[in-house]
Amino acid sequence: MGASSDNPSAVAAVDPIAGSPVYPRGARINQGGHLEVGGCDVVELAAELGTPAYIYAEDDIRWRAREFMRALGDRSDDFEVVFASKALPCTAAYALMREEGLSVDVASGGELHLALAAGFEPERIHLHGNNKSEAELRYAIERSVGQIIVDSFDEIERLERMLDRPQRVLLRITPGIKASTHSYIQTGQEDSKFGFGLADGLAERAVKVVRDARRLQLVGLHAHIGSQIFELESFTKAIEVLADFTRTVDYQPELLNIGGGLGIAYVHGEEPPTIEEYVELKLRGVQRVFDPVPRLLIEPGRSLVGNAGVTAYRIGTVKEIPGVRTYVAVDGGMSDNLRPMLYGSRYEAVIADRAGERPGTMATVAGMHCESGDVLIRDIELAEPAVGDVLVTPATGAYGHAMANNYNGVPRPPVIFCKDGESRVVVRRETWDDLLARDR
Ligand code: LLP
Repeated sequence: MGASSDNPSAVAAVDPIAGSPVYPRGARINQGGHLEVGGCDVVELAAELGTPAYIYAEDDIRWRAREFMRALGDRSDDFEVVFASKALPCTAAYALMREEGLSVDVASGGELHLALAAGFEPERIHLHGNNKSEAELRYAIERSVGQIIVDSFDEIERLERMLDRPQRVLLRITPGIKASTHSYIQTGQEDSKFGFGLADGLAERAVKVVRDARRLQLVGLHAHIGSQIFELESFTKAIEVLADFTRTVDYQPELLNIGGGLGIAYVHGEEPPTIEEYVELKLRGVQRVFDPVPRLLIEPGRSLVGNAGVTAYRIGTVKEIPGVRTYVAVDGGMSDNLRPMLYGSRYEAVIADRAGERPGTMATVAGMHCESGDVLIRDIELAEPAVGDVLVTPATGAYGHAMANNYNGVPRPPVIFCKDGESRVVVRRETWDDLLARDR
């Protein structure tokens, strides 16, 4: 795929995209005035591979993976960075994380299947889920998955019954900490479907039951308090609560997994903590209150891939309602990005064809689905949007592809990795025939 076109007349005076924390690292406005991601001209990519499309800068993902590994490696020699693969479950992402030395968190049999297909060593896999089926557990046992994060008494019983050899497990603890984020993605509070609570004594009982179990080998504790978190203090609190708990039950964990949760910038002006700050706080927190210090595991998803990806759409209609608003409709919407509808999330957008032009038209970016609520961005200034333009929303790299669906019979978009001006389709676009494939 060609990189920049060369029309010097369109060169932007200042590039608001280069260096923006919302866009992938290395993204910029090229000589032709087009948005460039991973060295690839997004307008050319859209023409060649169609829209909508998830476009990633591969180097950005690698940089973040390395940054997590480095930040921990500088401070400790006993740690694991576990890729929470729910954020981007495709084999190319699993393979990349594996190459970068990360372990992987899978939240279902399906994610486990993808991780194994991508070559992940079973011992580097951590299986999660508040209601793992027998089929999922059987698959994990057959493939000797390294760690199962046990979530309920029913699961303890189920696993004991199914195993004929020792299995390393961690207990999922809900530390009773309410992280400040959207309530749908808070997980650490007491009233949670996940794990064993502390206040209600369930965690204490779970430790006892697992210690008494014949096959289950308790290697550690796990707590994930929520996602898209900017205030790191909640993590410190969770760590302290976990340390108190281990003393109460007289248990020294070999592993301590304190989840993911680091927030990212979705729109300009948002300033999440850096990877360095996040790692420093978690590691120091653990070193301060645990003795002996367990191996620290962190489990980032969003912060590894969220800003690495953008979505490219094509504008199909521009509807101006005089005195009311201008709707710019794109060829995707709630089927490729559920987050605005699910969490009220806000996004940026740019017209990739004229990325350097000053945005002066107030518009609302609507999807193509049969629901009035299918709006990607309400009230955003764009550079004179026109039919045929490529509109890009940044920061869709996490939980976009993952939560894509076929509402209205819309085929799901491809995932495209770009690096040094070369693109590769790592997940192909669905076809109308794919929609028929399961019908009998
Ligand atoms: N570990 C566990 C056990 C988790 O449940 C999650 C996310 C993570 C790690 C990774 O968290 P992260 O680093 O990505 O914050 N669909 C929502 C996000 C749900 C997150 C669920 N669990 C969204 O689009 O914002």
